[in-house]
Amino acid sequence: MSNPPVLHEDCTGLAPLLGTWKGSGQGHYPTISAFEYLEELTFAHVGKPFLSMQQRTRDASTSAPLHAEYGYLRGVEPGVFELVVAQPSGILEIDAVDVSVTSGGVELNIESVEVPSTSSAKAVSGVRRRIVVDGDEMVSEMWMAAMGEPMTHHLRSSLTRS
Ligand code: HEM
Repeated sequence: MSNPPVLHEDCTGLAPLLGTWKGSGQGHYPTISAFEYLEELTFAHVGKPFLSMQQRTRDASTSAPLHAEYGYLRGVEPGVFELVVAQPSGILEIDAVDVSVTSGGVELNIESVEVPSTSSAKAVSGVRRRIVVDGDEMVSEMWMAAMGEPMTHHLRSSLTRS
C-alpha cells in the first residue's frame, strides 16, 4: 500500500472539511411543501488541488431518496477557490467560493457565477450556499432564486463528522 496523499498546498485551508458528515436537515420554499431530510456528505482528496464532494439525502420519515449531488471544490491559486456541482435534476452550478479560516475550522460562502441546466430542468437562476465547520460539527445552508422567486432560503442541515 502506498502512503495516503498529502493535501495539496492550495487546499490546506479546506482541511477541516475532510471526512464523512451525517445528520439531518429541513427544507422549504414558497412554491413547495416543507420537508425534513437525512444527509450524508463526503469531502475527500487525492493530493491534487481540489476536494471531491459527494452528497446524498433521504426523506426523514420514509427514507426515500431525495436530492443528491457530486462536485469538486477547486483550489485555483492560494486563497482562490471555485466549486462545480452536478445534480440529477439537470441543474449544474459554477460557483465562486470565499474561504475564511476560523478558530473552530472554516467557513465557506459560496455564490453562483452561472447555473446552466438541461432543457427539461426546473428554472434556477442563482444559488447561494454557506458551510460552517466548527470542530466535528457542520452547518450547511442553501438559498436559491428559482421558479420566479427571488433569492430565498431552501435548506439547512446540521451534520457531525463520523
Ligand atoms: C439537501 C439537498 C436538497 C434536498 C433534500 C432537496 C429537496 C427538495 C424537495 C423535497 C423538493 C420538492 C419536491 C421536488 O420537486 O422534488 C425540492 C424542490 C426543488 N429543489 Fe431542492 N433539494 C435539495 C437541494 C437543491 C439544490 C442544490 C437545488 C438547486 C441548486 C434545488 C432546487 C430545487 C428546485 C428548483 C425545486 C423545485 C421547486 C418547485 O417545483 O417549485 N434543490 N427540493
